[in-house]
Amino acid sequence: MIISDILMPVMDGFQLCRMCQEDDRLSSIPFVFYSASYTERQDQEFGLGMGAVRFIVKPMDPDEFLKTIREILKDYENGLLLPSALPVDKDEDTFLKGYSGRLIRQLEKKVEDLEESNKALMKSEADLKDLFESFVMAMVNALEAKSRWTTGHSRRVAHYAEQLALEIDLGPAEIAEVKMAALLHDIGKLGLKDNILDKPSHLTEEEFRTVKEHAALGAEILHDIKPLRHITPSIRHHHEKSDGSGYPDGITGRDIGLFAGILHIADSFDAITSDRPYRSSLSKEYAVEELKKFSGKQFDPVLVDAFLRVLDNGFRCIKFNTMRIMIQGLMKVEKI
Ligand SMILES: [Fe+2]
Repeated sequence: MIISDILMPVMDGFQLCRMCQEDDRLSSIPFVFYSASYTERQDQEFGLGMGAVRFIVKPMDPDEFLKTIREILKDYENGLLLPSALPVDKDEDTFLKGYSGRLIRQLEKKVEDLEESNKALMKSEADLKDLFESFVMAMVNALEAKSRWTTGHSRRVAHYAEQLALEIDLGPAEIAEVKMAALLHDIGKLGLKDNILDKPSHLTEEEFRTVKEHAALGAEILHDIKPLRHITPSIRHHHEKSDGSGYPDGITGRDIGLFAGILHIADSFDAITSDRPYRSSLSKEYAVEELKKFSGKQFDPVLVDAFLRVLDNGFRCIKFNTMRIMIQGLMKVEKI
C-alpha cells in the first residue's frame, strides 16, 4: 500500500499517484491519499479519479486510521478493490495547475491568519507585561507613600542592588530578579503601624520586635502572587546576618542566599546614608566604614568587597530593561 500526502517536495501527491498508475510494477498497489483538511471536495474527487482507492482527510483518529487501512488491505486481498485503470484525464493538467493555485492561495491565507493571530498574541502579552509592571510599581508606590521615611528607599535599594549584582557578573535575568526583590524588599512594612515607622526616637524592644515582622510578612504577602513567589526567600531573609544574629530565622552564611545578601548590603547602605526619623543621614564614608567593620560578621565579605568597588568606580549604565526581563522570566515560569 502507498499512503501519500499531497503537498510534498520534488513532486506532489497527484504526480506521484499518476506515475504509480503508469508504472506496471506499481499500478496494482493500493494508493491512498492522506492529506490535510484544507483540501477541497474536488481535490478528493480528482485524487480518487486518478485511481487512488481512498482519500483520507487529516487529522484522523489513529484507531480509525488503522481500521480504514485494515479494511483496504482486506479488500485488496479479497480482490475487491476496483482496478485503477482510469485513463489520464485530458483536463488533468488544467486541474493540477488550478490545484496548485488554490493551494497557494489557501496557504497564503493561512499564513496571513497566523500572522494576525501572532500580532494579537504579542499585543496581549505586551499588555499583560505592562499591567504587571504597573502592578509592581503600584505596590512600591503604596509603600513609599506610607511614610516620608520610606519615600525613595525601595528605588535606591534597587539601584544599589542592581549595581552590586552587575559587579559580581550576574546575568541579565539574575540582575532583573535582584532588582525586583529589592523594589519589594520592605513591602511587609505596609503591615506596620505608621506611628512605629515615623517614631522620632529609637524604638522600644517591643516596637522593634514588631518591625522585625516585616521581613516574614513581606514574603507572605508576595507568596500569594504566583509570579513573585520565587523571589520571596530573598525578601524573607534580607535582614539575616552572616553570623546568625539577624532575623527572622537567624540563619548563617550560604543559607542566607546570594540575593538576600545583596539586598542586605544595599538596604543597609541606604539606611545609613538616608535621613531616619530619629537621626539625620550619615556620610558615605561612614557607611563604608560600617560595611568594612561588619564584613564577615553581618555581611558577606565577598559582596562587601564588590560593593566597595562599585562605590569606588562609580555606577555603571545598565543596558537592558531589567523590569521587562524579569517579567518575561516570570511569565515563562508561569507558563511551565
Ligand atoms: Fe527591611
